[in-house]
Amino acid sequence: MALSVVILAAGQGTRMKSALPKVLQPLAGSPMLGHVLETAAGLDAGAIHVVYGFGGERVVEAFPGRDVSWVLQAEQLGTGHAVAQAIPHISDDDIVLVLCGDVPLIRAESLQPLIEAARAGAAVLTVVVDDPQGYGRIVRDGSGQLLRIVEERDANELERRIDEINTGLIAARADHLRRWLGALTADNAQGEYYLTDIVAMAVAENVPVAAVKTGNPDEVRGINDREQLAQAERLLCLRRARNLMRHGVTVADPARLDVRGSVRCGRDVFIDVNVILEGEVVLGDDVRIGPNVRLKDVHLGAGTEVLDNSVIESSQAGTGCVIGPFARVRPGTELAASVKVGNFVEIKKSQVGQGSKVNHLTYVGDSVIGETVNVGAGTITCNYDGVNKHQTKIGDGAFIGSGVMLVAPVDIGAGATIGAGSVISRGAPAGELTVARAPTRTIPNLQRPKKDSTGK
Ligand code: UD1
Ligand code: CA
Repeated sequence: MALSVVILAAGQGTRMKSALPKVLQPLAGSPMLGHVLETAAGLDAGAIHVVYGFGGERVVEAFPGRDVSWVLQAEQLGTGHAVAQAIPHISDDDIVLVLCGDVPLIRAESLQPLIEAARAGAAVLTVVVDDPQGYGRIVRDGSGQLLRIVEERDANELERRIDEINTGLIAARADHLRRWLGALTADNAQGEYYLTDIVAMAVAENVPVAAVKTGNPDEVRGINDREQLAQAERLLCLRRARNLMRHGVTVADPARLDVRGSVRCGRDVFIDVNVILEGEVVLGDDVRIGPNVRLKDVHLGAGTEVLDNSVIESSQAGTGCVIGPFARVRPGTELAASVKVGNFVEIKKSQVGQGSKVNHLTYVGDSVIGETVNVGAGTITCNYDGVNKHQTKIGDGAFIGSGVMLVAPVDIGAGATIGAGSVISRGAPAGELTVARAPTRTIPNLQRPKKDSTGK
């Protein structure tokens, strides 16, 4: 029996009070539905069908090139109706696994017992919770045999006290499911076609239907509002932090690390508190990340250190660099080995050669800087003329004094020295001292203005 996965993602998510369809709400760096798609991809399924509806093509467009079949549920008439839109695309000998776009923390291995149990007929994944409010309750008979699922709004006083709930994740043989879906009615408090009604149908037909209790309540949390979204965010970040620690990373406080993407680390990496890692981050051996740092799509070589309050985006650094504190490295920057980028320095779309230093209060944009260059404090590459961006080139071993304006396009030769405070607009030859500033003058006998003694 092959596995077909159906992911329900057509609902609006009214309780989010958002213009964005619920399944597109960002969770740890990707849309909520993306996490479910990833889990599904890890299941060895023959096909993955995603039922979409509210928000229309926006949901489809959020996952370009994804190998899934998109099934439109034009009107959201309930979870049973949603599965019914996908079932025509599924063959009778398949096992159908229904996942929910708003239950994103589930891991593939936790679904295996559910899929196994469904081979006999059908199975629902259940969990015992402290507060069952809002969920469908699992109704069993005196001997513990599963009877049916009752939605909260249809439940009586006694049923509402049941603390075993439906996670919404259900699996069934496709042949049975097709028959049951055809027989659903919307005769209930919400006037919807409930997928959960298939349980009572299986019981009535004597088809085996199992309630598989999961021991991982955090994985089956449904997300309906922003508070639950925030809780899921924490759980997911914690899961990722633990994973990093298992792989030899020291995390100062796993509750204060946000991983909103994928991270690969070498050995003995240290990550301090309040760090945000986004996109694809790769950290070599012995990298140290200081507190309050944000890295997005960043590749850092072994031994590189990023000090407090720095932001690095779409850039890479070689081994042994020191970046920060308070540095901003913008997209397209490549730092070679042993480069120093100091405090209040901004670098954009530039290459900096091995051993070069840009230590204080400087802007470097659209530049190619050679090796062992020293860029003095307060230097600015004037790369923008109001219309176009221009390049600055600084040769190996050049020494740029403090407070220099390099008006691009401009070329500083290797070994050149530029006097402090110069405005360089035509370039500077290699090996020479170039100074472009007004000479110092002293004007004698200055009379400073004085305040009138009457105070007027
Ligand atoms: C559902 C279950 C409930 C369970 C809970 C777990 C039913 C009837 N109820 O309730 O027993 O405890 O999940 O979280 O199944 N959807 C569609 N099309 C629709 C309606 C819903 O695609 O017409 C999707 C939603 O986008 C969502 C999922 O199905 O991803 C669940 O729907 P939701 O309305 O959130 O159901 P619950 O009331 O939470
Ligand atoms: Ca829900």
